[in-house]
Amino acid sequence: TTPDLKEIHDFLVSLAFKAGDIITNAILDNNNSETGSKKNSADLVTEYDRAVENMISTSLKAKYPDYEFHGEETYDPTRPLTEAPTFIVDPIDGTINFIHSFPYACVSLGFAINRIPTVGVVYNPSTKTLYSAIKGQGAFRNQETRLPLKGDYVEPLSGLPNALVSIEWGSDRSGPNWETKVRTFEKLGQSKEDGGAMVRSFRSLGSAALNLCSVAEGTMDLYWEGGCWEWDVCAAWVILTEAGGIIVDGNPGGWEPSVDGRRYLAIRGAPEAGQKELVEEFWSYIQGRLEY
Ligand code: IPD
Repeated sequence: TTPDLKEIHDFLVSLAFKAGDIITNAILDNNNSETGSKKNSADLVTEYDRAVENMISTSLKAKYPDYEFHGEETYDPTRPLTEAPTFIVDPIDGTINFIHSFPYACVSLGFAINRIPTVGVVYNPSTKTLYSAIKGQGAFRNQETRLPLKGDYVEPLSGLPNALVSIEWGSDRSGPNWETKVRTFEKLGQSKEDGGAMVRSFRSLGSAALNLCSVAEGTMDLYWEGGCWEWDVCAAWVILTEAGGIIVDGNPGGWEPSVDGRRYLAIRGAPEAGQKELVEEFWSYIQGRLEY
């Protein structure tokens, strides 16, 4: 049977609010401490990541037993993403922020068909902001305000020197990927005279999903990251593209990114924004290639 996208959207919204309550109460009760690290002190997990994912997967499997489920905390590398209808879920995107009570973490609930992100719901319980979209039906903030937001942002982004760029450091702090990122940050920030792009500034806020939603609503102009996963981006991918933004590979030349490609470059939409030229210009500053 063909998935009922509106019904799926509404169900994901209800789960996002439920998950948001669990997250908010954990912070209020001071229970938001780490319970383990996966790789190092920048790659953390809490009991809430697991509890929230468990609540979401149990609910989704009960209502939609025929669809696949792909979640960060139960990820099995021997079962990669397939063409089947699949829920792609990050129970807490921005786990480090959650642990530090920095109000920039969210529940990220995506649904993909044929590996194409099709429904997306992202909810930040600290600010009570909900972003959601169904492919082909527009993107919304708090279910009523259509994205992109009207306001001065809809001015075309005239070039990288006017851009507020979202980047992330990730949890790999050595090796070629680290080198590529750090050297690229340097080039992007450097003055024109010295051969750089001189972007206006960087923000590194710690949630891939919310970074993409910020690009969708126009409070951020670009977002570049290597190393995050499909559950970090699937939901917000729909929101971004429905808001007129584009997403491509984080490596130069990749015009057809895949949701599990682990390297992403997103640019906000705007009338005659010249997004493709901006993508090429941004790519030209990347120092090396991301190997994820
Ligand atoms: C992380 C966040 C972070 C990004 C990492 C992700 P998590 O997700 O999205 O911004 O830099 O790549 O893994 O671990 O908090 O769900």
